[in-house]
Amino acid sequence: MILEEYINELQQNGKITTITNKISKNLEIAGVLKSLEPQPVLFENIKESEFRVTGNLFCNKKQISEYFEITTEEIIPTLTRAIEERSEPKQTDKAACQEVVEDKVDLDKIPILMHNKVDGGPYISSGVVVAADPEFGQNLDFHRAMQISKNKMVVRVVRGRDFHKFLERNGEVDVAFCIGNTPEVLIAAATSVETGINELEIANALRKISVTRAKTVDLMIPADSEFVLEGRIILEEKHDEGPFIDLTETVDVIRQEPIFEVKKITHRKTAIWQGLLPGRDEHKILMGMPREPTVFRKVKERGIDVLDVNITPGGASWLHVAIKIKKKNEDDGIQALEGAFSGHKSAKHIWVYDEDIDIYSDEEREWAMATRFQADIDLLIKDQEPGSSLDPSAEPGTKMTTKCGFDCTKTMDTKGKSFDKAKFPEVDLKKYLGE
Ligand SMILES: Cc1cc2nc3c(=O)[nH]c(=O)nc-3n(C[C@H](O)[C@H](O)[C@H](O)COP(=O)(O)O)c2cc1C
Repeated sequence: MILEEYINELQQNGKITTITNKISKNLEIAGVLKSLEPQPVLFENIKESEFRVTGNLFCNKKQISEYFEITTEEIIPTLTRAIEERSEPKQTDKAACQEVVEDKVDLDKIPILMHNKVDGGPYISSGVVVAADPEFGQNLDFHRAMQISKNKMVVRVVRGRDFHKFLERNGEVDVAFCIGNTPEVLIAAATSVETGINELEIANALRKISVTRAKTVDLMIPADSEFVLEGRIILEEKHDEGPFIDLTETVDVIRQEPIFEVKKITHRKTAIWQGLLPGRDEHKILMGMPREPTVFRKVKERGIDVLDVNITPGGASWLHVAIKIKKKNEDDGIQALEGAFSGHKSAKHIWVYDEDIDIYSDEEREWAMATRFQADIDLLIKDQEPGSSLDPSAEPGTKMTTKCGFDCTKTMDTKGKSFDKAKFPEVDLKKYLGE
């Protein structure tokens, strides 16, 4: 779906704040988005650019489920189905994202946002990157990119992921940064599936999309994106990247990262730039939520009756996972932990709960841990494994960390004690207090 059409729908339903006063892309837009979060915002009058800017569109599961016209409970099954039942998007020669093909590349004309004073420069934070490898075909993922000149950016490439593999195998890789997308493309790009799966097929299974051939690189790109920056990333051409406030809302260090030379810019006639506040709700939901079906699948593969998975916001929507299971065997909790760690390699702490615990309530989760967990038998420690580069407490450079799982399920043998919360008598208060 074209993002502007969705914004029009939000406007008709009074669900978006439109700001017509002049505003700067340097810090001011980020400040307003943070203050109004999770309210969607459209900025119509940008000091430095003729284009409009939007943000806060998909900050939580409610906004995402409303987009797909499903309930929040249906999100994990819907994503799981889309990963399993991928389908090829239809191709078009008349793509919205290519309505305008710019003659000259000038990144200064685009409202690339400066989010925080400490950041090393203006950053693209909502960029869905299409890339390809001769053997594995196309891949879709996110890469933040810091502007360093009118036609160059430096791109953060996390080691070990598909795009890094492509760069290592080929030395240089053609890319298309697609900005201004609706959730089927955003979520598909954030899933982590086997190398060789084209995530555009996951997007198409979530909601029908069209793809088109990029103008200067041999890639099929989402036809409805608002902007596309085409070019090449060269592994050995590096530049300082950062500092940058990242997912944990702490400052990520400066690294030497590859340069992206932008060779062509295309966009819709009335293109709207999609802002995404680093470290805040929209970033968090796009990181954590697409991992929930992967964790779910890996726990299920171990024969566990898994009911729900929540990658919790308190753990930066990345490092902490809560799982709900229907326990049938004594070691189901530990097995679920093993499965979950294999489904989300960046997770540091994972908890498993019984079906009577609300895994969205911090208080209930703490209660279950207080009353059902014994460290000598219910603790799983994974000493010094690669974890998340985003965790400031992991070893910088190597990502080495100690992971820990907590089996907070009841033991099958209750030894005469009860693990269940007492239920008080239900009364009709009117009978005692009057009308
Ligand atoms: C908003 C957002 C920003 C991200 N930024 C980066 C980034 O700068 N560099 C990176 O390597 N991964 C980044 N990621 C994570 C990857 O996109 C993610 O790990 C992806 O699922 C990996 O895909 P793959 O399994 O195809 O390699 C970001 C994810 C999101 C949702």
